[in-house]
Amino acid sequence: MKKVAIAAIILIVLVIGGGWFFMRMMSGGAGGNMPGQGGGMMNGGGMGNGGMMGGGSDAVEDMKNNSFSGEEKPLPIPPILEDENPDPDKAEFTLVSQKGSMEFLKGRSTDTFGYNGDYLGPVIRVKKGDDVSIKVKNELDEATTLHWHGLEVDGEDDGGPHNGIQPGTTWNPQFKIEQNAATLWYHPHLLHKTGEHVYKGLAGLFLIDDEESEKLNLPDEYGVNDIPLIVQDKQLDENGQFKYDLGMHDVMMGLQGDTIMVNGAINPYVEVPKGKVRFRLLNGSNARIYQFALSNGQEFYQIGTDGGLMEEPVKLSSLILSSAERAELIVDFSKYKEGETIELTDQGMPFMKFIVTGEEKGPKEIPSQLADIPEVDESMAANTREFVMSGMGRNVTINGKQMDMDRIDEQLKLHDTEIWEITNEGMGMMGNNMGMAHPFHGHGTQFLILDRDGNPPPPNERGWKDTILVSPGEKVRVIATFDHKGLFMYHCHILEHEDSGMMGQFTVEE
Ligand code: C2O
Ligand code: CU
Ligand code: CU
Repeated sequence: MKKVAIAAIILIVLVIGGGWFFMRMMSGGAGGNMPGQGGGMMNGGGMGNGGMMGGGSDAVEDMKNNSFSGEEKPLPIPPILEDENPDPDKAEFTLVSQKGSMEFLKGRSTDTFGYNGDYLGPVIRVKKGDDVSIKVKNELDEATTLHWHGLEVDGEDDGGPHNGIQPGTTWNPQFKIEQNAATLWYHPHLLHKTGEHVYKGLAGLFLIDDEESEKLNLPDEYGVNDIPLIVQDKQLDENGQFKYDLGMHDVMMGLQGDTIMVNGAINPYVEVPKGKVRFRLLNGSNARIYQFALSNGQEFYQIGTDGGLMEEPVKLSSLILSSAERAELIVDFSKYKEGETIELTDQGMPFMKFIVTGEEKGPKEIPSQLADIPEVDESMAANTREFVMSGMGRNVTINGKQMDMDRIDEQLKLHDTEIWEITNEGMGMMGNNMGMAHPFHGHGTQFLILDRDGNPPPPNERGWKDTILVSPGEKVRVIATFDHKGLFMYHCHILEHEDSGMMGQFTVEE
């Protein structure tokens, strides 16, 4: 009798608990993470602060970016890190992971992490062909790693979860730059800790130049008409501290903040010349997917994807970018008068401002030919692999498995070309619109997209990609050649999903 009663109680708890969870999902705006998809993810006002979700601290659905800080700040431009080696073909850098503090909100200091400073890190800038050595010193009180996202290097230099750097020690990867000009980035990759470390400020840009791109006459005055924009959404608590204790909503959707920062500033403005300006855009957010546009609806050009320049510029009126993806854009400010302002928006919500100066600068035209992207030939592929992303919350998986440092999931042969078929099973609770999109990222190479659900990729995805957003129910086929050996990761780049185990390991061996 007793056992039956206990079983009944457990059942009731499960049903009520499950029901609560389900209601929570329905009302909490967890209706998918794609811009414009499903319930209440910051659809540009409407709900206000006291809307229908009744604000649990983890339910952050609408952006109160502007109410948060009326004050405008000049956009910080991350400094370019000094190359300590005078030899033009060699580059030597030192990065220090350290604790710091920032005053994001007036009068409140926020505890942060940064590289060589309080928040974010300097830009590492190298040339194709360079021999690079980077000393990464960990001055935090805890272990971390440093991964070069998008860089094609051997597994031992990749900085994944196996390359832990203990407090007080230095890790010194050395590699040759073998890939074309690109806007890459770096961030920690310690198992279960990536989300927290990046959130607190550990991230920076890694730029590669090459001779071909230098001949192109693109805007190239760093910080003047070649401007990096690291976009991140953050949540600051009453004390101005970054909150990284995950509520259920954060575990499900990934951590999404109510305030957008660019290069570590809320509400920034930047002066731009009257002319064509290049922006190197990185979605450095833990989870949020943005839909960028200009406030006046002006069109712009995308010239580069994650792994470098595209074949030709692609005209866009808006751009979706998921976590870890990059895009190089050119915006033409030449028709504006001195002092005019244009805002950069996410789903219609402005979060930064461009102020046009009178000064004319830069190329008159955007080159029509940028880089050569090889014609993809599926018959070159030696192998086809499937990656199925599914599950929700802490149970997110790839191919039904969660990350295990001691298990190699896939074994590849060095120099093989492979087709990877990446599927999002898309768990639709109330029809397909409820599933989550997952940005799939593979280390050690750059991919080209063959097709999305059998259709050719959109023009602005016809370039090198290392992070590929896969919508609920969608199947994306990509192709890549694996020219670096060692142990590498593939994972969802929603960092809370990665930290929950939505990651696997592959080796590339002779
Ligand atoms: Cu941006 Cu596995 O990393
Ligand atoms: Cu990576
Ligand atoms: Cu995911």
